[in-house]
Amino acid sequence: MNVIGFQDADRLVSTRAMQEDNENENSLRPKSLSEYIGQEKLKDNLEIYLQAAKMRGEALDHTLLYGPPGLGKTTLAGVIANEMGVNIRVTSGPAIEKPGDLAALLTNLEDGDVLFIDEIHRMSRQVEEVLYPALEDFALDIIIGKGPSAQSIRINLPQFTLIGATTRAGQISSPLRDRFGVQLKLEMYSHEELAKIIMRSAGILGIDCTHDGAIALAKCSRGTPRVANRLLRRVRDFAQIKGNGVIDYDIAMASLQRMEIDSLGLDNLDRTLMRAIINMYSGGPVGLETLAAAIGEEAITLEDVCEPYLMQLGFLSRTPRGRIVTNLAYQHLNIKNPNAPDSGIVQQSLEDL
Ligand code: ADE
Repeated sequence: MNVIGFQDADRLVSTRAMQEDNENENSLRPKSLSEYIGQEKLKDNLEIYLQAAKMRGEALDHTLLYGPPGLGKTTLAGVIANEMGVNIRVTSGPAIEKPGDLAALLTNLEDGDVLFIDEIHRMSRQVEEVLYPALEDFALDIIIGKGPSAQSIRINLPQFTLIGATTRAGQISSPLRDRFGVQLKLEMYSHEELAKIIMRSAGILGIDCTHDGAIALAKCSRGTPRVANRLLRRVRDFAQIKGNGVIDYDIAMASLQRMEIDSLGLDNLDRTLMRAIINMYSGGPVGLETLAAAIGEEAITLEDVCEPYLMQLGFLSRTPRGRIVTNLAYQHLNIKNPNAPDSGIVQQSLEDL
């Protein structure tokens, strides 16, 4: 079987955060809700929760942010802290190894502060148990000593807001999920919203970018600002060396073509995944692990990074028996679908997606 050694870390259109993104994203992150583009429904409700908490002089309720990677969960947590006028401490589920690590974080917070835990679904059960009384009663129960002489002491904590972020809301235990008073789902961004984000970022970075250029990049950004900002920086390089420094439609399209990113923002890994299902498994169904082994990629990468966007495009379906590609995928790849009924029905145009 053909094994193709792709690395998600090398992909320009990966929605996962990379070292370069973390360094660059910080300067591009909006600080206030008014600067934050998109997620309109979420922002409308959040604004009310923020105003109400401020009027009561209380910390915001514990908040869960969930949705695919790259949509701005960390950015939004920063915006919330800034709007509340409090400090934010940033950590992640896997970084909190022991209950003592969590205790150290919590006891260093001040009244009203935000504790942001990214990838909260990866926190251990042991740590989670310590978090419950902290969330409910703003207290830590600590056992001192062992055996019959062990004593439980309670340490009071400041009133803080936990903001948890996850790409996998389904993997959070229900006791933890139930303790979040506010639960907000981030949606993929429209092309217009992404173009606005690109224009804003271009302004901050001092890049000359036309609206048509921004729209061309937006269409290939897989609904995520992280990809949009990454493409902007790469296409700037092409504009500088191959053009006159301005990102217009032509330079954007030529650069995307050189980077082998197609009109919908799919790259080689996405196309390899779909072609593998078509050529090796007759269009599917095929199990995720089998598919991952066939193309030499980790299952979690396919699941978290490729599949959400391919499913959003309607190219891929998850069924109980495995993954299948749809007729739209065959059309996009220009491969004849032997199973498609020759119905003569005009297919939905890809431009409408
Ligand atoms: N940069 C990244 N995400 C953004 C957003 N939603 N609005 C503005 N700038 C951003």
